[in-house]
Amino acid sequence: MRQPLVAGNWKMNGSRASVAELLAGLKSGINQVTAAEVAVCAPAIYLPAVQADLDGTSIKWGGQDVSAHASGAYTGEIAGSMLADFGCHFVIIGHSERRAYHAESDQAVAEKFTAARAAGLVPILCVGETLEEREGGITEEVVARQLDAVIAHCGIDVVGEGVIAYEPVWAIGTGKTATPEQAQEVHAFIRGRLAASSQAVADGMRILYGGSMNPKNAAELIAQADIDGGLIGGASLKADDFLAVCSAANR
Ligand code: PGA
Repeated sequence: MRQPLVAGNWKMNGSRASVAELLAGLKSGINQVTAAEVAVCAPAIYLPAVQADLDGTSIKWGGQDVSAHASGAYTGEIAGSMLADFGCHFVIIGHSERRAYHAESDQAVAEKFTAARAAGLVPILCVGETLEEREGGITEEVVARQLDAVIAHCGIDVVGEGVIAYEPVWAIGTGKTATPEQAQEVHAFIRGRLAASSQAVADGMRILYGGSMNPKNAAELIAQADIDGGLIGGASLKADDFLAVCSAANR
């Protein structure tokens, strides 16, 4: 039985004041969430505040990116050990915004996955196709390529220590959610791809859906056989909305 996971991806949003307000709201409502593991992935500069507020609660936290390097002359980057130093449990790897705006290749994403594991973090590996790729009928080819690069670099057992998020790029921040059937189809494909290397990893892997998931559509998505939770962007910025998505995983 895979425990559902709902992770918030705050992206580059917030201020000290809004972060404090959001965390207070999450803490006061988290007791209504009984089934899902819950986490927030905050901008790195707010992680000390997140740690101070969430320490001792059931809510975990994480970063949104990590350097492929352990330390050294990499101006502006943040090492996995630094995230771990501030109590991070998770880190998002290979988000489509990193792939698109920071030219992160499949290989770079694979190296970051390894670095995250080396620091003891649980990577949330994002995969997903663009609208053009979906319309071109190559969704599975794209997702397989993104996944295979990490399996080839890290090995299937290390991949099994992470989480996968299927995020169709055309559904991110657009209000256009994949239908539960569309999402389930790709989730089942991803699980099958993992099973080709290890049935045990495939069975245990939590595969999250991400892309305009909100309190209205979350329950139907999470009810699908291969959807084990969500990676939530916009709806994670309001405590009530995020908690409602988390509660949709009470099953
Ligand atoms: P969204 O973002 O929920 O705002 O679509 C999801 C994500 O990018 O992780």
